[in-house]
Amino acid sequence: MGEKEKGLRMDHYKKGSGGSYKEVAERMKETARQQSMATANMLKIKYKLLILSSKGGVGKSLVTSSLAISLALMGKKVGVLDADFHGPSAHKMLGVPTGRGMSGRLDGTVDPVEAAAGVKLASIGLLIPRDDVALIWRGPIKAGAIRELLAYVNWGPLDYLLIDLPPGTGDEPLTLVQSIPKVTGIVLVTIPSEVSKSVVKKAIAFAAKVKTPIVGIIENMSYLRCPHGDVIYVFGKGAAEELSKEYNIPFLGSIPLDPRVREASDRGKAFFLEYPDSEAAQAFREIAARIVDIVEGGKAIIPEIPEEEGG
Ligand SMILES: Nc1ncnc2c1ncn2[C@@H]1O[C@H](COP(=O)(O)OP(=O)(O)OP(=O)(O)O)[C@@H](O)[C@H]1O
Ligand SMILES: [Mg+2]
Repeated sequence: MGEKEKGLRMDHYKKGSGGSYKEVAERMKETARQQSMATANMLKIKYKLLILSSKGGVGKSLVTSSLAISLALMGKKVGVLDADFHGPSAHKMLGVPTGRGMSGRLDGTVDPVEAAAGVKLASIGLLIPRDDVALIWRGPIKAGAIRELLAYVNWGPLDYLLIDLPPGTGDEPLTLVQSIPKVTGIVLVTIPSEVSKSVVKKAIAFAAKVKTPIVGIIENMSYLRCPHGDVIYVFGKGAAEELSKEYNIPFLGSIPLDPRVREASDRGKAFFLEYPDSEAAQAFREIAARIVDIVEGGKAIIPEIPEEEGG
């Protein structure tokens, strides 16, 4: 492989996965090279957190972007890696438009873009030209893309790298826990419904299986506060606190439903910066402070799950 072909080059996935022995050997060498670059990159970052849920649409991307901004405003150096290739959205919630691009360097590495509150961001959403472009990738291609993002993005020294994940406990979280020398912990997100609660149990089982600590669980869309002060529990009540008790994992806090969250995301703005005085923004500040306390105090623990339950 020529020098100029190295680096982040998502186009090479079009070539398919066949090839001669020599090509396969070359690929293995390149994978090993990427892994050592990824390891060196990740060792410069103090805390690596996965934002995981198993369940789709519960607010993982909102949580990732809002926590990133909260932590940055606390004076931390923060990066966000969007590992959701099929539906990247964290960039919009950090105020960066789709297709913005990332600057490449001569050595084949790329610089993350500077997003809201100085958060560094790397996402496939910056590399695709438009929102209606679909990446139709199978597992090994996604695993390769994750390794490339870990290896070739110049994060520099960071305090926190938050990794936004798609729903599920498959290729993306598995590749991340296998490629990052030590994932500091998993931040779980659920909404209060029974359906979400039961699916999030799979994420807890995943953490136990891959022996990765859980930082805690966040309940999003917990309640809606009406203009006259009444509170409506739209999706039910108490799921995250119940999971916290059942599995002995920290409950990090509740975020209310707020129509302005959806509206700001749709406008491609960071909700947290648009409405810093809102109840939801205040909740994020408190949750970020709890996360700092748990992570920096080394208090995140690997959940214990009976073998028959975790699968
Ligand atoms: N607390 C909230 N109040 C109002 N709207 C919210 C809230 N949390 C998230 N949303 C909206 O719900 C939608 C889904 O949120 P988000 O994209 O963060 O979920 P996700 O878990 O990342 O989804 P996916 O599984 O597709 O990645 C978005 O339009 C977002 O703006
Ligand atoms: Mg998402």
